[in-house]
Amino acid sequence: MATTIDYHKRNSENKLDYNVPLTREAFGHDFKWGVATAAYQIEGAVNEDGRSDCVWDVFARKKGKIRNGDHARQACDFYHRYEQDLELVKELGFGHFRFSLSWSRILPDGHGRVNQPGIDFYNKLIDKCISLRIEPWITLYHWDLPQALEKSGGWKNRRIVEWFAEYASVCALAFGDRVHNWIVLNEPMAVAGLGYTTGEHAPGNKGIHNFLPVVHHLALSQAEGGRVLRQILPDARIGNAISCSYVYPNSRSAADVRAARRADALMNRLFIEPALGLGYPKDAFPFLSNIKRFMREGDRERLKFDFDFWGLQNYFSVVVQHSYLAPVTWLKEVPATLRNVPTTALGWEISPAGMYEILKQFGRYKGVRELMISENGAAFKDKLKEGKVEDSGRRAYYQEYLSAVLKAKNEGLNITGYFAWTLLDNFEWAHGYSARFGLVFVDFKTQERTVKDSGRWFARFLKKVEI
Ligand code: GAL
Repeated sequence: MATTIDYHKRNSENKLDYNVPLTREAFGHDFKWGVATAAYQIEGAVNEDGRSDCVWDVFARKKGKIRNGDHARQACDFYHRYEQDLELVKELGFGHFRFSLSWSRILPDGHGRVNQPGIDFYNKLIDKCISLRIEPWITLYHWDLPQALEKSGGWKNRRIVEWFAEYASVCALAFGDRVHNWIVLNEPMAVAGLGYTTGEHAPGNKGIHNFLPVVHHLALSQAEGGRVLRQILPDARIGNAISCSYVYPNSRSAADVRAARRADALMNRLFIEPALGLGYPKDAFPFLSNIKRFMREGDRERLKFDFDFWGLQNYFSVVVQHSYLAPVTWLKEVPATLRNVPTTALGWEISPAGMYEILKQFGRYKGVRELMISENGAAFKDKLKEGKVEDSGRRAYYQEYLSAVLKAKNEGLNITGYFAWTLLDNFEWAHGYSARFGLVFVDFKTQERTVKDSGRWFARFLKKVEI
């Protein structure tokens, strides 16, 4: 019989021996400290200045898709409050601000006609960053596909590669004179898995038949987007941001170990390996060989792009076991809530050891030049009491994860930056406003902002000042 791994033991075995005190200086003077955001989660103003619907607007209007029937029509009203919010970024001590562009603000039909007011908004935002000496980082695509393109099949239609290339070139030409750092796609796996297979995210398409074509079109688009940016902006730094979670097998049985390898192929290897010229990770997950049905001549080359950096987005580690009940993947996750391990409000395991392990894993790829953490953070049940939010859980989470990053960096990995997720409590996709991830608390009725204790900790850590 398989021996079950004792999680307490695993945690204590994996207890990181940090040795080095956690200080800003320990990361080196050129380490980049930032906060990350995404257009749809914060902007609001969905009908203003010529913006058209994106898939999330349509999804949120359907019953039962978003918790409590929440929607992002106003969200954090960042569209109108970006100046004050960028001042908060400065106050917290961050020198880098990652935001995404709303495709349907810039190209309301998805391609063709450019909407100048959309360009104007991002120009003002970029100029404000620069005036505050905050370095702007653009993510081209953070999940808000124009609905006009979804009507033509969205990511299922191979023509999306051309539409995306056109969008990338419009953005490069509009903003490239001032923006040096670009991220092509944000977490393509979430788009393929949640958006087109399980239907938990917009556009809400369900069915395993969607998975492989969508993966392939996303993988082609990440490389094509990289090429477009590099051609127009030869000096820009171009990266891609992928989700990743270290995968532990539930037991040492051969079946669980193979299940863990399949999960690892899906969660960690699927988008980086084709870009590095290694192809899709069929070795661990033979189902992926079926992707050849969607490959055309020349695609193996087209999938490659030499990114300047890879953005890793890590929140938790996972434990998986073999399952006969899950056709295709033949695996299931063992939820953290059943494993007697610390979790965040979303039931995600708090696992700094997992952050360390996944960094080491990505550090082993030969073709990876530079790694950065493009998102990391945690949701907790925050309460605003007498003008304060005492979120000691989040502060501890950041301290532990940052220690794990520092340990991996000190062992020689080229990790060049860290972006906290996120500045403001915001529209957390299918969770609506129920999950708060911000360093700054938002009262969604009044739009009042209150810096949480975790935000104050960052100000002390980064600037050595009390705010
Ligand atoms: C990431 C995503 C973000 C944010 C975060 C927390 O997957 O890129 O938009 O929602 O998770 O759930």
